[in-house]
Amino acid sequence: MTNTDKLEASLIYPREVKIRDGRNVSLRLMEAGDNQRILNFANSLPPDDLLFLRTDITDPRTIDEWVRSIEAGTTITVVAELDSGVVGYASLHTEGARWTRRVGEVRVQVGVDYRGAGLGKRLVGEIFRLGQVRDQEDGRDDDPGPEERAGCIRRAWLPGRGDAPRLGG
Ligand SMILES: CC(C)(COP(=O)(O)OP(=O)(O)OC[C@H]1O[C@@H](n2cnc3c(N)ncnc32)[C@H](O)[C@@H]1OP(=O)(O)O)[C@@H](O)C(=O)NCCC(=O)NCCS
Repeated sequence: MTNTDKLEASLIYPREVKIRDGRNVSLRLMEAGDNQRILNFANSLPPDDLLFLRTDITDPRTIDEWVRSIEAGTTITVVAELDSGVVGYASLHTEGARWTRRVGEVRVQVGVDYRGAGLGKRLVGEIFRLGQVRDQEDGRDDDPGPEERAGCIRRAWLPGRGDAPRLGG
C-alpha cells in the first residue's frame, strides 16, 4: 500500500460492526504479523470449504506469499475479528488476473459459526468501498477502456495501480 492508502485505511479501520445475530465484529486491514491468526482461521474451516479455495490457506507459505502481496500492493484484505480471532475475510487480488491488469478477483471466506448473518456481504462491501473511495479521490479514468467497451462494469479502483481497473460484471 502507498502511504496515502495507509492513511485512508487508518481513518476507516479498525471499526466495529454488528452482524445480524447481534454479535459485534471488528474490521481492519490484514497486515504483516497476521500470519498465525489467518492460519488459525484457515485450520478452523471444514475440509470441504478448503477444497474450493484457489490456494491452500492452511499452508504457512501461502500466507507468507499473501502478506508479501499485501505489502507489494497487489492484494488488499479486510479481516473480521471477534475476541482477537479471525472469523472471516474478504480479499481483492490483482496479481492472479494476468490476462489484464485491470481485472481483480475478490475472495471471501466466513467462519462456520458466523455464516448467514450478513458478514460475507459486509466484507465484500468493504473491499468495494475501499476501491471506490480511492476512485473518487483520484477522479481518474472517465474514459471507458477496452474492458468496459467489451461489456465489463467498473466496480472499483484497485489499490496499488497507476490507472483505474475494472472488475468483470
Ligand atoms: C459464501 C460465504 C462467504 C457467504 O458469507 P455469509 O456471511 O454466510 O453470507 P451473508 O450472510 O452475508 O449472505 C450474503 C448473501 O449471500 C447468500 N449466500 C450465502 N452463502 C451462499 C452460498 N454458499 N451460495 C449462494 N448464496 C449464498 C445469502 O443468501 C445472502 O443473500 P441475500 O443478500 O440475497 O440475502 C460464506 O458462507 C462462506 O465462507 N462459505 C464457505 C465457502 C463457500 O461456500 N464458498 C462459496 C464459493 S464457492
